[in-house]
Amino acid sequence: MKRYSVMLLAIPLAIGATALQAAEKAAAGAATPSAVAAADRSPEAVVNSQCIECHGSGKKHAPRIDDREDWTKRASKGLDALALGAIRGHHGMPARGGRPDLTDAEFKAAIFHMFTRAVTAPAKK
Ligand code: HEC
Repeated sequence: MKRYSVMLLAIPLAIGATALQAAEKAAAGAATPSAVAAADRSPEAVVNSQCIECHGSGKKHAPRIDDREDWTKRASKGLDALALGAIRGHHGMPARGGRPDLTDAEFKAAIFHMFTRAVTAPAKK
């Protein structure tokens, strides 16, 4: 069991390392590397490029971005508790939603962005 979770952790880390190398290469050639990197890490960009894969459609039973009820229920335990589970990853969710390069603050901002979108979405029924 322990070995299994170590392996699970290693996968996103390996992907992150590759992405980092690619980002460094891209940054070296880009005219405004810091602007590009910052844009890619904004809460909205992170959600739209990464989290949406599962949270857009509810894939693997991820709470959908427009599901106010689900997010309200989950957020009732507090943003820190919510973030902690998501940072570690659980059930169908990879650690940090598959973005191990994000800091805790950046990851929390992405969660908050999704939560805000959920609670401001029109009620479904
Ligand atoms: C590969 C699919 C997938 C991706 C990509 C993904 N998630 Fe998730 N996420 C899930 C699933 C599935 C759950 C439900 C897990 C559960 O209820 O135990 C979940 C649950 C969550 C929760 C709620 C955790 C809780 O304690 O209830 C948060 C917060 C979250 N994700 C944030 C994110 C953020 C932020 C991103 C983007 C950086 C992201 N997720 C990307 C699949 C994904």
